[in-house]
Amino acid sequence: MADADSKSLSLVSFLLFILVTATAVTGDSLNSDSQVLLGFKSHLESLNPTERGKYNEWETEKQDVCQWPGITCNPEGSRVTGINLRDSTISGPLFGNFSALTQLTFLDLSSNTIEGSIPDDLSRCLNLKHLNLSHNIIGGELSLSGLLNLEVLDLSVNRITGNVHSSFPLLCNSLVVANISTNNFSGRIDDIFTECMYLKYVDFRYNRFSGEIWGGFRRLVKFSVSGNRLSGKITATMFRGNCSLQVLDLSANGFFGEFPGQVSNCRNLNILDLWGNNFRGNIPGEIGSISSLRGLYFGKNEFSRDIPETLLNLRNLVFLDLSRNNFGGELQEIFGRFTRVEYLVLHGNSYVGGIYSSNILTLPNLSRLDLSYNNFSGRLPAEVSRSLMFLVLAYNNFSGDIPSEYGNLQGLQALDLSFNSLTGSIPASLGKLTSLLWLMLANNSLSGEIPPEIGNCTSLLWFNVANNQLSGGFHPELTKMGSNPFPTFEVNRRNMDNTISASGECLVMRRWIPAEFPPFKFVYATFTNKSCRTLWNHVLKGKCIFTVCTAGSVVGPLDISGYLQLSGNKLSGEVPANISQMKKLSMIHLGFNEFEGKLPVEIGLLLPLAFLNLTRNKFSGQIPREIGNLRSLQNLDLSYNNFSGNFPTSLNELSEMSKFNISYNPLVTGVIPSTGQLATFEIDSFLGNPLMQFPSFFNKSGNNNSSLVERGNRREEEEEEDDDDGAAIDMLAFYWSTVSFYVVALIGILVLIYFDYPWCRAWLSAL
Ligand SMILES: *[C@@H]1O[C@H](CO)[C@@H](O)[C@H](O)[C@H]1NC(C)=O
Ligand SMILES: *[C@@H]1O[C@H](CO)[C@@H](O)[C@H](O)[C@H]1NC(C)=O
Ligand SMILES: *[C@@H]1O[C@H](CO)[C@@H](O)[C@H](O)[C@H]1NC(C)=O
Ligand SMILES: *[C@@H]1O[C@H](CO)[C@@H](O)[C@H](O)[C@H]1NC(C)=O
Ligand SMILES: *[C@@H]1O[C@H](CO)[C@@H](O)[C@H](O)[C@H]1NC(C)=O
Ligand SMILES: *[C@@H]1O[C@H](CO)[C@@H](O)[C@H](O)[C@H]1NC(C)=O
Ligand SMILES: *[C@@H]1O[C@H](CO)[C@@H](O)[C@H](O)[C@H]1NC(C)=O
Ligand SMILES: *[C@@H]1O[C@H](CO)[C@@H](O)[C@H](O)[C@H]1NC(C)=O
Ligand SMILES: *[C@@H]1O[C@H](CO)[C@@H](O)[C@H](O)[C@H]1NC(C)=O
Ligand SMILES: *[C@@H]1O[C@H](CO)[C@@H](O)[C@H](O)[C@H]1NC(C)=O
Ligand SMILES: *[C@@H]1O[C@H](CO)[C@@H](O)[C@H](O)[C@H]1NC(C)=O
Ligand SMILES: *[C@@H]1O[C@H](CO)[C@@H](O)[C@H](O)[C@H]1NC(C)=O
Repeated sequence: MADADSKSLSLVSFLLFILVTATAVTGDSLNSDSQVLLGFKSHLESLNPTERGKYNEWETEKQDVCQWPGITCNPEGSRVTGINLRDSTISGPLFGNFSALTQLTFLDLSSNTIEGSIPDDLSRCLNLKHLNLSHNIIGGELSLSGLLNLEVLDLSVNRITGNVHSSFPLLCNSLVVANISTNNFSGRIDDIFTECMYLKYVDFRYNRFSGEIWGGFRRLVKFSVSGNRLSGKITATMFRGNCSLQVLDLSANGFFGEFPGQVSNCRNLNILDLWGNNFRGNIPGEIGSISSLRGLYFGKNEFSRDIPETLLNLRNLVFLDLSRNNFGGELQEIFGRFTRVEYLVLHGNSYVGGIYSSNILTLPNLSRLDLSYNNFSGRLPAEVSRSLMFLVLAYNNFSGDIPSEYGNLQGLQALDLSFNSLTGSIPASLGKLTSLLWLMLANNSLSGEIPPEIGNCTSLLWFNVANNQLSGGFHPELTKMGSNPFPTFEVNRRNMDNTISASGECLVMRRWIPAEFPPFKFVYATFTNKSCRTLWNHVLKGKCIFTVCTAGSVVGPLDISGYLQLSGNKLSGEVPANISQMKKLSMIHLGFNEFEGKLPVEIGLLLPLAFLNLTRNKFSGQIPREIGNLRSLQNLDLSYNNFSGNFPTSLNELSEMSKFNISYNPLVTGVIPSTGQLATFEIDSFLGNPLMQFPSFFNKSGNNNSSLVERGNRREEEEEEDDDDGAAIDMLAFYWSTVSFYVVALIGILVLIYFDYPWCRAWLSAL
């Protein structure tokens, strides 16, 4: 209260000051501008009483408005012309009085959480040239028809709906950049840009636009309409005359027919993305004359299998995607002659036969090769290009051994040979691959032991050999695996080209990052085909993905994390105690093997662990109490083993745990607490453990299941009293641990949000 009073007092004295100094008190002065800004400030403060952006320093005492943070003035210093409060923790509806700043030309309120619709007032900012409201949660319909001088419009990543016809073409006078990608716009866009004479960059991706395309796009530099519902043909006339396009992105729409060779009029074209349409017929040979081309994305169409020889002339071609065109037959020989291509994506084409004839694997500059989802057969070629970083041959019918020569591919970061018919053992030479991040050999018929040399793969965070015939023990040397992936991430941060990444679907990505993988759980909902390109690059750079990025999301492992997937083999012996070294794992799957002996208590040191699945082995002895220290644990499966001794009540402290299974360990004894986390699980989690005692609520609450009542609760009455005391103490302990956990977690989230929020949020919403 007092604060507000003193503020209005100072406002009054400020007004007096203005009067005394006798400057013109029209609506058009620096002083009136500062009043509007102070009005803006109190609007912001009222909406967000706790967190303040840099506008917090706007004060009447600091008389020079032009020095206020985020404010710019005209050269004379006589009027406010710009406001930049990007990323300033602004929430609530947009301020409704910007039009009172009659000289305002620049307004950037991007990367905040502004909501509601855009007020009519904004459309009265007649001098506005640059408007950036991207990365907010603005909804409603668009109406900016009054902004006749606008040059740059960026409304990307919001929730705006309806069509754009009330603003286009009225906005067109001076418009150069129009970015409204990732909203919920709909309607037609075939006639809206005709009068936009200066327009250069159009980004209308990821909306719900329908109908045909605007035929004048060749005038632009960049035209991206990916991920809409556009359809119709792309005609030769659309390319007639001068074409200034550098990027043409028509991907993920419903365009059909032949694609015209006249595209070669676009002499400066860099990226031609036709992925995910219904184009058919020949790939036009004229494309081979566009020497600036770097990326051709033709996947998921119905192009004919004759690839024109002229494409070999493209001296700058780096990325070639011809996946999912139903080519069939043997691999076209021409692919073995794209000597400059670095990324070659040919998955899902039903190719048969071997891949020797084509030379495709020895292309000198090849960095990523994806031949998955075909029907290649025969042995894997031993001789492959030394430049390979990603070799993806999954879902074929390759047989025979994994060539030990693959150990010489020094730069290899991902090797995916899963879902083939490979036999023999895993070559020890793979231990030389110190850049390897991901090794995926699941669902083959590999035998022998996992060579201890694999432990030398210091970057190997993601290791999956599930469903093979592997035998032998878990060698202690293996625990060195993935101990330091950062040099590889560092290389990728330095060298990886962000403009050229994955294309099309996320099939590889989905094998790499399974849906339940904890750090990704909260992005999986938004894990669409479009987002995977971004995500791919982030994974390879070891960025953000592993931190808590959105308020309210689960508290997951805060550091980078990987997995160890060994299930469905014949591995035996004990799990070594030094598994405690594998501190970067959030998921361990050892199920369906023959592991035996005690589970080392050191398992309790793997703090980021969220999944621990030991089902169907022969583990025996005490279940380590230390598992209760794994506070991130969400999923614990100890079922079908031979554990014995007292059941550790420490597990009751695992407040994140949502799946739990200890059934069929007939020797386990002890009492399951009747309150706390363990009490949240159904009877299925405890079946087949006749010596365990269950809390009485299983009987009372009606969700009881006869088998439990029969098997489990025999002795309950006898120990009822003891149980109650124990339960009270348990409950208190549990209460305190929960409270302190949430306090720590809350602080963690706040800290993260404070430091990471803009970056992560920007990234997440760009997905
Ligand atoms: C806009 O600001 C001007 C100057 O401070 C003020 O006179 C006017 O009442 C405001 N209008 C609204 C709708 O708040
Ligand atoms: C708008 O703001 C976003 C996020 O702050 C930024 O990434 C983008 O480049 C800006 N757009 C323009 C056209 O300057
Ligand atoms: C449009 O905005 C999106 C998201 O902010 C950004 O990724 C994209 O590069 C922008 N497009 C152009 C043409 O500036
Ligand atoms: C987009 O708008 C349609 C109606 O036009 C609505 O049904 C849908 O829920 C909206 N989608 C989102 C993500 O807001
Ligand atoms: C095409 O470009 C050339 C050279 O820049 C120019 O002379 C010519 O007028 C342009 N033609 C059209 C139809 O714009
Ligand atoms: C491979 O790429 C390098 C540079 O990235 C280039 O100098 C070399 O000429 C390329 N090789 C071929 C055969 O194009
Ligand atoms: C591979 O061949 C088998 C048998 O001919 C067929 O059923 C399957 O669909 C083919 N798979 C692909 C990806 O072409
Ligand atoms: C896989 O290859 C084997 C020979 O190696 C062959 O017998 C089998 O039919 C092939 N399977 C398919 C689906 O093509
Ligand atoms: C993977 O292997 C397992 C076990 O051998 C088998 O049950 C499963 O069907 C295989 N999955 C596929 C997709 O082949
Ligand atoms: C790789 O691992 C093996 C066995 O674990 C070890 O003997 C060898 O010295 C290691 N090689 C290097 C280069 O570290
Ligand atoms: C990705 O694309 C494939 C093929 O078009 C489709 O089957 C799949 O549902 C898509 N996935 C998502 C998450 O959009
Ligand atoms: C443990 O893994 C097996 C497959 O290996 C799976 O069937 C089971 O559901 C998993 N347990 C839990 C609790 O998720």
